[in-house]
Amino acid sequence: MDSLENAKKNAAYKAVDEYVQNNCAIGIGSGSTIVYAVQRLAERVIQEELNVICVPTSFQSRQLILDNHLTLGNLETHPHLYSAIDGADEVDKDLNLIKGGGGCLLQEKVVASCTNRFVIIADYTKNSVKLGDKYKKGIPIEVVPMAYMPVKLKIEDNYGGTAKIRMAVAKAGPVITDNGNFILDWHFPDIDSNSWRKINMELSLIPGVVETGLFTDMAETVFFGCGRFVSEERRMKKKGLSTLRDLSDFKVTNN
Ligand code: MLT
Repeated sequence: MDSLENAKKNAAYKAVDEYVQNNCAIGIGSGSTIVYAVQRLAERVIQEELNVICVPTSFQSRQLILDNHLTLGNLETHPHLYSAIDGADEVDKDLNLIKGGGGCLLQEKVVASCTNRFVIIADYTKNSVKLGDKYKKGIPIEVVPMAYMPVKLKIEDNYGGTAKIRMAVAKAGPVITDNGNFILDWHFPDIDSNSWRKINMELSLIPGVVETGLFTDMAETVFFGCGRFVSEERRMKKKGLSTLRDLSDFKVTNN
């Protein structure tokens, strides 16, 4: 396993060890890092005989839950989640996140909103001072198909940058989300981190916008995995909950 995959695995294992307990319902995110979290969860469920209900955030996530023989749940029966664990495309110093590189931002945000323990797992390449420093694909914005052009123009006119419709790779035409919508990837100009909360609210009010991949004031903890064989973990806690920002080394067994 290469060092990036190890980094993802270490972050994922740490999150599952800390944020899953017996008799709880948790949200399962989407993307490449969550695969390791589900793997670890499946191990713990067997070893510790845990009763854990898993609420998915996408088709991929649902398949992962089923493939690992975990118990599938939903927000109708479990609207309050103990925790939700998910990946991110970029995390800034204030815990603003860009999510939705994998196109699952809507359900990811809905599930994240159902817990006070929204935990991000990411490899060290996602750790950034300012959004846009590391992730160059823009902020994903899910839009109703018939509204993509007016939404694109409103975003570009109001904030600058370019909002490009995401095109599918193995199909002619745009990417269609799990919810039947399109995605605009907004390549934004230089923006101060303090503005993201306001911009996110404004974007959400544009008719035709279903959800944005800007997650502000949502993450409680971010685990950044790094290292090849022994991982260093960097944990940041949300302002108000804790001022802890430690750079402690800890050893993780890589199997
Ligand atoms: C996303 O937000 O699109 C993904 O969860 C990021 C990832 O691949 O981990």
